Amino acid sequence: MKRIAILTSGGDAPGMNACIRAVTRHGLNEEMEVFGVSHGFGGLIAGELRPLGARDVGNIIQRGGTILGSSRSPAFRTPEGRDKAAARLREYEIEGLVICGGNGTFAGAVALAEHWDGSIVGVPATIDNDINGTDTTIGYDTAINTALEAIDRIRDTAEAQERVFLVEVMGRKCGAIALDVALAGGAVAALIPESPDDMEGLVEFLTSSRSAGRHSNIIVVSEGEEHGGAFSVAEQLALHISSDIRVTVLGHIQRGGAPTAASRILGTRLGVAAVEALRDGATGVMTAVRGNRVELVPLSEAIAIQRPADTALVDLILGLAR
Ligand code: F6P
Repeated sequence: MKRIAILTSGGDAPGMNACIRAVTRHGLNEEMEVFGVSHGFGGLIAGELRPLGARDVGNIIQRGGTILGSSRSPAFRTPEGRDKAAARLREYEIEGLVICGGNGTFAGAVALAEHWDGSIVGVPATIDNDINGTDTTIGYDTAINTALEAIDRIRDTAEAQERVFLVEVMGRKCGAIALDVALAGGAVAALIPESPDDMEGLVEFLTSSRSAGRHSNIIVVSEGEEHGGAFSVAEQLALHISSDIRVTVLGHIQRGGAPTAASRILGTRLGVAAVEALRDGATGVMTAVRGNRVELVPLSEAIAIQRPADTALVDLILGLAR
C-alpha cells in the first residue's frame, strides 16, 4: 500500500481533525503517500484531492469541524456518480481510502466498493453515537459535554424562576445524546425517538412536583421524538399543567467547538488503526472501539441496523427524579 487518501463525509463531528492528523502522520510513518479529499464524496467526484504533508495537519487537533470539509452529496447517490468517484481514485492511483463519517457515509462506502477495487476502511464519526458495532463514535463525548454545560446553565435560571424547561438536543433517529445528557444533567425525563413518550406519566409527575418540593424540572427532548421536538411537546404539556414552560433548542452548537480529550484520543486511535488496517490488507471494515480495545468490524455489520439505544434508561431517569 503506497498511496492512500482520507475523506470526511456527512455531519461533521469534533475529533475528525484528530483523525485526519493521525491518518496523515501515521501513513507517512508507514512510508505511504497521503492525499486529502475535500468536501466528502462530492469533492471526490470533482477531483478535489491534494497531497497532505506532516505540516498540513499541524495545529488542528484542538479544532472542531474538519479541515477537509464535509458534504452530503446527491450526485454520489447515483451509480454514475460513484463511477466518477471510482475513476478519480484510479486517476490519482489511490490504493486505500479512509472514510470518516456516520451511517450514511458508510452506506456510501459499501456502494463505492462495487465500482472500485481499492481497499476501504471506515472510521466512525458522528455526534449521534448511532453506529452499530462500536461502543462510541468520534464527536459524541464532545457533543454530550457541550449539551451538559448548557443544561447546567439552564438549571440555574429554571430553579430561580421555578420553571419547566424542555431542552432539545440533536438526534433525528437516535436518542443516545438525550439519554446520556439527561442522566448526567439530572433531568427528570428524556423523550427519545426509539420509545413512545409517556405523556400521561410526565404530566402526573410535573403536577405533583411542587408538593414534592421541586422548584424546577428539566426534560431533555431528542429532535426526532414522536411529537416532532421540544416546541410540540411544550404545547402538549401546556394543555395539562399550569407551570411556566420554556424551550431551548441547542441545535448545531452540539456539533461545533473544541473536541474533548476523549474525542481527540478516539480520533487518533481509530485513525492510526485505519492506516494499519489498510497496510495489513483489510477492506470493507470500520475501526471500532469495544471495551477499551480497537477492533475491525465489517462495514456491513455497522450499517445493518442503527445502534440500539438503551431504552431502559428512560425509566431509570424518571425513577431517580423524585
Ligand atoms: O450529525 C448528525 C446530526 O447532527 C443529527 O443529529 C442531526 O439531525 C443532523 O445531523 C443535522 O444535520 P444537518 O443540519 O447537517 O443536515
